[in-house]
Amino acid sequence: MEHRKISRAVISRLPRYHRYLGDLLEEGVERISSNDLSKKMHVTASQIRQDLNNFGGFGQQGYGYNVKYLYTEIGKILGLDKTHNFIIIGAGNLGQALANYASFERSGFILKSLFDVNPRLEGMSIRSVQVRMMDELVDFLANNDIEIAALTIPKTKAVEVADILVANGIKAIWNFAHTDLTLPKDVVVESVHLSDSLMQLSYNISRRKESRKK
Ligand code: NAI
Repeated sequence: MEHRKISRAVISRLPRYHRYLGDLLEEGVERISSNDLSKKMHVTASQIRQDLNNFGGFGQQGYGYNVKYLYTEIGKILGLDKTHNFIIIGAGNLGQALANYASFERSGFILKSLFDVNPRLEGMSIRSVQVRMMDELVDFLANNDIEIAALTIPKTKAVEVADILVANGIKAIWNFAHTDLTLPKDVVVESVHLSDSLMQLSYNISRRKESRKK
């Protein structure tokens, strides 16, 4: 299927559409109107129509959207029609929490190993995925088809470890360490700051309080 050039703003909303459509599929829903999807997602129906029109021909007037088709097509755009092997560097609190989250697999992200420097973690398994020591990393990368590395280590170590990952072929870093990484252009970095959404929440709480006062 032909896609128009899709804006970054729309792309950033696609994972959320994908998640909701996945839930609808699990509930056995075959078709949904933009109005019903709008109520479910708390987004205006016109925003949904505008976003989904980017892919052309999904919605039929009066019939709504074909949930499975839309889910599959958005999945393809997000590259979810293939599996992506990933590793986690730093098997501490956050690394273990991520490793315990089984739903990544549902979207095709397969955790192959965790790595750490703490010898007490050596040999430990999380949902059958082994924690290895950092001195095994280079060999492991050479012998396994790993696309993504999640960085859940102290920020003081992140730059050094990211350089090792990139020198050994990693092209995508999911960066949880609160530091900016300057890496070659062909390496994609997605930085996650959970506190950003908390701050967003705090902003919304203050706005509500303000409007109640008026
Ligand atoms: P933690 O102390 O429980 O785990 C860190 C792990 O990294 C430890 O097991 C440690 O042995 C390991 N480690 C240290 N140096 C290493 C190296 N050079 N190579 C491999 N492993 C190494 O810490 P926690 O709570 O899991 O946090 C990890 C990181 O994630 C921190 O930088 C923290 O600030 C960040 N963080 C980020 C969040 C976000 O929203 N982005 C949320 C929570 C934590």
